[in-house]
Amino acid sequence: MQMFFEIKNLRVRYEGAEVVKGVSLHLEEGEIVTLIGSNGAGKTTILRAVSGLKAPSAGEIWFEGTRVDGRNAQSIVKLGIVQVPQGRGLFPYMSVAENLKLGAFLRKDRRAVQKDLADVLVHFPRLKERARQQASTLSGGEQQMLAIAAAVMCRPRLLLLDEPSMGLSPLMVSEIGKIVREINATGTTVLLVEQNSRLALKLATRAYVLETGNIVVEGAADELMHSEHVRKAYLGE
Ligand SMILES: Nc1ncnc2c1ncn2[C@@H]1O[C@H](COP(=O)(O)OP(=O)(O)OP(=O)(O)O)[C@@H](O)[C@H]1O
Ligand SMILES: [Mg+2]
Repeated sequence: MQMFFEIKNLRVRYEGAEVVKGVSLHLEEGEIVTLIGSNGAGKTTILRAVSGLKAPSAGEIWFEGTRVDGRNAQSIVKLGIVQVPQGRGLFPYMSVAENLKLGAFLRKDRRAVQKDLADVLVHFPRLKERARQQASTLSGGEQQMLAIAAAVMCRPRLLLLDEPSMGLSPLMVSEIGKIVREINATGTTVLLVEQNSRLALKLATRAYVLETGNIVVEGAADELMHSEHVRKAYLGE
């Protein structure tokens, strides 16, 4: 059977130093899978390789039977793989509504884009109230929501989220969690990178733990939640 998304033996290096050292992982269609790990483990680097922003030194990346590694970033977005970067990547001097329309810049179906804009704003009432506000003046949590909403405007089939809970209050974290569930319920597969392991293991069905460029544990999220290693190293117990 063809896998929805698969990374095989991925290796990535920066200036001679290998930071991803042979990572393999996969997602089935409709899943939320999380990749957790400490600062500098290589999580963002893996997402950048998937998005075509950083060339791997070895390995393969496959999406619905198409080899993805070696393609440019734009063609990967066109295939339906959309990344929300760590630290958000908004256009700060543009309004909320303009940022959302720019999220769909590769789409030609302008009428459908207008409809999606209206739909997205229904799911993000906080953004609807602030449609004309400049993005840089939004709160941190609102900016994170806007970044996710802008990615949804691309109609992703696979959404890559890089630490969406970073720097947010517990209330905002649970709101983001709810939004991730809603996006997944509409049929979008999600790869969630998180340092907030508790949130990540609650949202995901399966998880991978990355330590200095290697996957050291993988399995069902509820099993990992009870694993001694994960509890000690990632849940602070
Ligand atoms: N452009 C770069 N040039 C050189 N080294 C880099 C570059 N980008 C990342 N690195 C290094 O690669 C390693 C992995 O970084 P990466 O950003 O993938 O980690 P991460 O798991 O996302 O960490 P965090 O949780 O802090 O975001 C780090 O040691 C980092 O310093
Ligand atoms: Mg990172």
